[in-house]
Order: sequence, then C-alpha cells, then structure tokens
Amino acid sequence: MIGRLNHVAIAVRDMAAAVAVYRDTLGGEVSEKVAQPDHGVSTVFVVLPNTKIELLEPLGTNSPIAKFLERNADGGIHHICYEVDDIIAARDRLKAAGARVLGDGEPKIGAHGKPVLFLHPKDFCGTLVELEQA
Ligand code: CO
Repeated sequence: MIGRLNHVAIAVRDMAAAVAVYRDTLGGEVSEKVAQPDHGVSTVFVVLPNTKIELLEPLGTNSPIAKFLERNADGGIHHICYEVDDIIAARDRLKAAGARVLGDGEPKIGAHGKPVLFLHPKDFCGTLVELEQA
C-alpha cells in the first residue's frame, strides 16, 4: 500500500541555523521559508535526488511541534511521509486493522497542497507517520 518516501521532517528551533547546515555545510538545494499558519509551522524543503527533507520551525503559539522541541532541545526527526495512491482507501484499511488516525480522521491539505493524514506513533514503531496522496 505505501509507496515512495515523500519526505522526512525534522523539527528545528532556529530555521536560519538549520538552513545554514543544509545549504552551506551539506550543500543541499534549499527552498524559501514558507509560513503555514494553518499548521502552526514554517517550512523549508531540501530537495534531494530521491526524496525531500522538510525542516519545520514552530510558528505562533500552540505550535504542534512545540512539545517535541521541549523534549528534543537540539531538534530531531519529527515524522516520515509515505505516498499512497488513495488516501481514503488507505485510511479505511488502516482503521480496519486497528491503527489510530490522528485528529478527526479526515484528510487535511498539507504543505504540498495535497491531502494528508497522520497516524499514531504508538501503532507505527514509535514513529509519527504522515500519509500523502500522490
Ligand atoms: Co510532513
């Protein structure tokens, strides 16, 4: 069911410092920073030949990554995103298997303008999983 790895998301406290690491130290191709107020984060994408790295910085109060950064002062891998062909079919299959879908279970439009869902880390080897309809 799961397809390509769409991205690995890394939560950071300081986007300018993270961009310097990925652009200057690692020589990556880095996008502009985009505020995503609906998601409580700002994003920068690092485009790699086979996937992307999504850098996430908290935006506003009650950012969904604020707690994560309290526990991980240096930042860290926050979630991984797999592509699926049909997000509704994927959700229904996972729910039937007993997996927990976060939020109200309805896909939201993610940072790429495509429907996404998040799955509970306790059901997926301790990793927050995002599904994105390809
Ligand atoms: Co993501």
